[in-house]
Amino acid sequence: MDRRSFALAFGAGLAGLTLSGCGRKSDGARWRLGFSQVTTTEPWRVLFNREMREAAAKHPELQLVIADGQDRTEKQVSDIEAFVRQRVDLILVSPKESAGLTGAVDAAAAAGIPVIVLDRGVDTDAYRQFIGSDNLKIGRMAGAYAVDLLGGKGRAQGRIVEIWGGMASTPAQERHKGFAEAIDAEPGVTRVVDRQDADWKQDRAYNIMASALKAHPRIDLVYGHNDPMAYGAYLAAKDAGRQDEIRFIGIDGLPDEGAKWVKDGALTATFVYEPPGAEAIEQSLRILKGEPAPKRIELGTEVVDARTVDAFLAARA
Ligand code: FRU
Repeated sequence: MDRRSFALAFGAGLAGLTLSGCGRKSDGARWRLGFSQVTTTEPWRVLFNREMREAAAKHPELQLVIADGQDRTEKQVSDIEAFVRQRVDLILVSPKESAGLTGAVDAAAAAGIPVIVLDRGVDTDAYRQFIGSDNLKIGRMAGAYAVDLLGGKGRAQGRIVEIWGGMASTPAQERHKGFAEAIDAEPGVTRVVDRQDADWKQDRAYNIMASALKAHPRIDLVYGHNDPMAYGAYLAAKDAGRQDEIRFIGIDGLPDEGAKWVKDGALTATFVYEPPGAEAIEQSLRILKGEPAPKRIELGTEVVDARTVDAFLAARA
């Protein structure tokens, strides 16, 4: 067998193993949960999966299988289709984008498998439950905060760069909409960069900001749809020697990322976006036991800035 065919045969064997591993219930487990997670490269996703696994480990009657979507809609669709074929008892999904995952959610629901949608929405209401923060509200809070930083309601002055997360996802759309409501009411505020999609990634945000800095001699504030992108923009400004003229705000508030960057003075504020993993396990159990479970569960948010960061970090330590 040459190297390539060995690799192929070995790969196929591994795939078979993984599938049969997923297809069987582990000892003592009464219910199998299949979770399609969009990616595992970002720290927010890593924390999300960890909290979910820890919560599931407290319930021997549950077996949790997490499939990594590798940041690709097609991979998530095929992971969900595999869960349906394996007849898992409940499917959870945190989608890359809404339209692309809608068909898979509809098909799982049509096959009689309850689906819980986490953090990013889909364009159907065939799912059993949605768990996540209110991104429109977070966008509005960020907008009001930005207006305050720029001089206050009715008096704000400034030039804003907004860096979008994935445009086809509901958090990016809602974080934009809420922010725009506050900003667009201010005649003295203009957005010099808008509708630039960095797909939630720090390095892409760095590049968008590097171009914005070249094109615009004055920028007063950067709104990143998450902390890694706000921080990427900060690093670009720092490399251009302009970080002190600009305020950076983001979303997520992880203790090791956004909150730390606030503490270090890189970001002015971040808005907490709670990972829904632990709650998803509690709600899965309720649904599987036939207990009442609402269609929508909203997780809270709070602002972390220079005034609150020490208490926030102490509470999460
Ligand atoms: C992680 C992430 C978070 C963001 C969330 C939005 O993949 O980009 O940073 O708040 O997804 O769905």
